[in-house]
Amino acid sequence: MSGPAADPRLEGRTLRRVVYDASQIAARVRELGAQITAAYPEGDLLVLGLLKGSFIFLSDLVREINRPLQIDFLVASSYADSTISSGDVRLLYDPHTRLEGRHILLVEDIVDTGRTLNRLMHLLRARNPRSLEICALLHKHLAKALEHETKFVGFDAPHEYLVGYGLDHAESFRHIPYIASLL
Ligand code: IMP
Ligand code: MG
Repeated sequence: MSGPAADPRLEGRTLRRVVYDASQIAARVRELGAQITAAYPEGDLLVLGLLKGSFIFLSDLVREINRPLQIDFLVASSYADSTISSGDVRLLYDPHTRLEGRHILLVEDIVDTGRTLNRLMHLLRARNPRSLEICALLHKHLAKALEHETKFVGFDAPHEYLVGYGLDHAESFRHIPYIASLL
């Protein structure tokens, strides 16, 4: 038997369902890339990936953005080995990259409560970027107190815990090339 239910990458876990398959993701990432290309007609663009969850999304996305850009990363953590957001956002690495006067596009895997982004946007805005926007592959639209609208959204995600394409559960399943929920 083949198919995602028998995927050897799942550590014996069973899929509930595949939510977005690899070709759906690729098509949407292409559209986002075109949208971002058109949104920045001029200026210095820094794509700032939030590790670790955005690493696969960012690597595909930047190859669909047809203009000059630079890339850097931030690490902020709000989830430990659980699937519950603790709300305790820790900034583990802060790039020395100059943000002042540049267009900053913060790339996030998924917006859940929005706490991570609220805190980060505050920190980044203090550095006087020319503009500051968010691109999230997935948005659960659960955030009650999101201070900044997510300008670029890949998919409106279902309210299930999702893994794959960078998203983890206790650091596993990030390498699965599709996005799924587990039983
Ligand atoms: P927030 O601060 O509650 O918005 O949490 C955002 C972070 O929580 C994301 O960057 C993910 O790392 C993680 N997260 C939220 N929902 C999921 C999910 O369904 N699967 C995997 N990680 C998630
Ligand atoms: Mg995570």
